[in-house]
Amino acid sequence: MTLPEYNIADRNLAPQGKAKIDWAWQYMPVLRMLEERLAPEKPLEGKVLSVCLHLEAKTACLLRTLKRLGATVAAAGSNPLSTQDDVCAALVDEGIHVFSTRGMTSEMYMQNLRSAAAYDPEIIIDDGCDLVCLVHEERPELCAKIRGGCEETTTGVKRLKAMAEEKILAFPMYAVNDAYSKYLFDNRYGTGQSVWDAIMRTTNCLVAGKSVVVAGYGWCGRGVASRASGMGASVIVVEADPHRALEALMDGYRVMSMAEAAPLGDFFITVTGNVSVIRGEHMDLLKDGVILANAGHFDVEISKPHLEERSSSVETVRPGVTRYAFKDGRKIYLLAEGRLVNLAAGDGHPIEIMDLSFAMQLLTALHVLHTSREPGVYNVPEELDKEVGALKLESLGIALEKFTPEQEQYMKDWRE
Ligand code: NAI
Repeated sequence: MTLPEYNIADRNLAPQGKAKIDWAWQYMPVLRMLEERLAPEKPLEGKVLSVCLHLEAKTACLLRTLKRLGATVAAAGSNPLSTQDDVCAALVDEGIHVFSTRGMTSEMYMQNLRSAAAYDPEIIIDDGCDLVCLVHEERPELCAKIRGGCEETTTGVKRLKAMAEEKILAFPMYAVNDAYSKYLFDNRYGTGQSVWDAIMRTTNCLVAGKSVVVAGYGWCGRGVASRASGMGASVIVVEADPHRALEALMDGYRVMSMAEAAPLGDFFITVTGNVSVIRGEHMDLLKDGVILANAGHFDVEISKPHLEERSSSVETVRPGVTRYAFKDGRKIYLLAEGRLVNLAAGDGHPIEIMDLSFAMQLLTALHVLHTSREPGVYNVPEELDKEVGALKLESLGIALEKFTPEQEQYMKDWRE
């Protein structure tokens, strides 16, 4: 069987894609340090990696590093709206097999995943677990060859754990999302900044003085809420978990149910990883002109069928902004079609944040190659997690305090 080489929009876009990748690369010191350190040994020589990731400039840096360390890389885009066609073209020029076009349909998305899997990988890097699911459902014979992989997102890890629970998961997968270097920086600071960057550039609206409703006070929600508050918004948190609801309260926010928050908010941001968080009964209570955005993994947190049912017309009024003209006269605005707003209507996480996440992906992929474990979902070894943090500090020239022998002894001892 001849393997599909690539499926992208336009190879002529490569120069502008390369410029974007080069820009990102200068702000990725950790990945650069790792590439420099590992390049002489080419630890991925002869290895095949299939990945499903957001195909934009920062991810391109990871893919290029994998390739430079010797791997054959087949990459599918993990979101039709986050794929950047020029970056895909530049990656094809680098010899990477890329399968994604911006705005691809769901069928094309699945076809592109199949093309990435057709390379018979030994390692999978996934974002949302779709590639892992596809391999299990459509290419079960591949599972025995796959040494393992890593998953980037909260939602993907939940799906992997559900697969493991049902004893379906056929190889070890590392929950990169659960590594401290990932969720602390990426979910909290990355999502916190990039969600607001995307909302502001898409709407050009002021945040100060507005009421912002954040649904979900997990790692992402904490970041989204703190940045909104920092810009002068009054923040309302909607949570389902008692500890997190209390945490939000003690962090200084108002906490209430979505039904109570619905008539109060000017902006609503969902970051729960759950379905129908804003649904018909809430939409009936929204103020005229409110802006709805989702930053959780899939476009299901804001119920689009319920928006449509209530509308006499649905129109794109600015790039990334859909206006639902409700039959009762109210106008409700949905950003980025309800998909992850920071990726679909922005540039995604800041570069320096993705540097840490991708360094973790790279170290975990290498770890997978050198270990053999039972199928299951595993945490990234703590030493890899700490290594990423330490490399980042090194790149900044920041020294860590070292324990003295007396301190080491004091901490071990139970005697006074
Ligand atoms: P998390 O598990 O730490 O937090 C989710 C929170 O939502 C939990 O506290 C949970 O109790 C709450 N929740 C669940 N259903 C709810 C409901 N119906 N109403 C109110 N609260 C509800 O997860 P994390 O890390 O904050 O991620 C959240 C979502 O964001 C996931 O889908 C994840 O994949 C996605 N994500 C998005 C990123 C982005 O760039 N936009 C980056 C990282 C993760």
